Amino acid sequence: MICLDNFFTGSKDNVAHLLDRTNFELIRHDVVQPILLEVDEVYHLACPASPIHYKYNPIKTLKTAFLGTMNMLGLAKRCRAKFLITSTSEVYGDPLEHPQTEAYWGNVNCIGERSCYDEGKRVSETLTMDYHREHNLDIRERRTRGTDPRPQEPRARPWLLLERAPCPLHRRPACLPLCARRDRPYL
Ligand SMILES: NC(=O)c1ccc[n+]([C@@H]2O[C@H](COP(=O)([O-])OP(=O)(O)OC[C@H]3O[C@@H](n4cnc5c(N)ncnc54)[C@H](O)[C@@H]3O)[C@@H](O)[C@H]2O)c1
Repeated sequence: MICLDNFFTGSKDNVAHLLDRTNFELIRHDVVQPILLEVDEVYHLACPASPIHYKYNPIKTLKTAFLGTMNMLGLAKRCRAKFLITSTSEVYGDPLEHPQTEAYWGNVNCIGERSCYDEGKRVSETLTMDYHREHNLDIRERRTRGTDPRPQEPRARPWLLLERAPCPLHRRPACLPLCARRDRPYL
């Protein structure tokens, strides 16, 4: 397993227990920049997720969502690797339907303070679907709905990797432990 992280919100401590393993490699890398690797599967989780973090540098958030996703999709395409992206219920914006189904397209402000995240995630989903349609890439898109906002909570990552997120496109059941109690813990 190769883990890329620019440590914007992450920390080496999160993976300290893995660093001694021979099958684990940590690379400080910003996904906004391309990278050449040989991989079988790409799990693209890199993106600030809490409003404090994504509003800190909204242009960088958008670059991570668009360029970062494009680079990771390019990597998956070159390696013919499977690709998973973690998206969010924020793609529905300020929804007019409750609960939201995948058939609902949302009600999104494209010029607000949260738009860097909401629109960034929307375009990253669009890119992912276009790589699927145009290059037949084997993709998974997962719209998670938030986890508890406890300060030390490692949030989405471990659950997603454990569950290997079943694909809504393939009409398989979608249930993650983190589709939990509240839709928007960071509001
Ligand atoms: N936690 C949630 O409730 C939630 C809900 C919906 C979607 N998601 C999505 O799940 C993913 C992970 O969320 P999280 O809560 O674990 O967030 P997090 O902030 O804890 O983790 C994001 C990780 O990405 C890294 N990162 C950010 N920008 C990067 C860049 N340009 N290059 C390389 N690494 C970068 C950070 O350093 C951090 O390690 C995100 O894509 C997020 O949008 C999370």
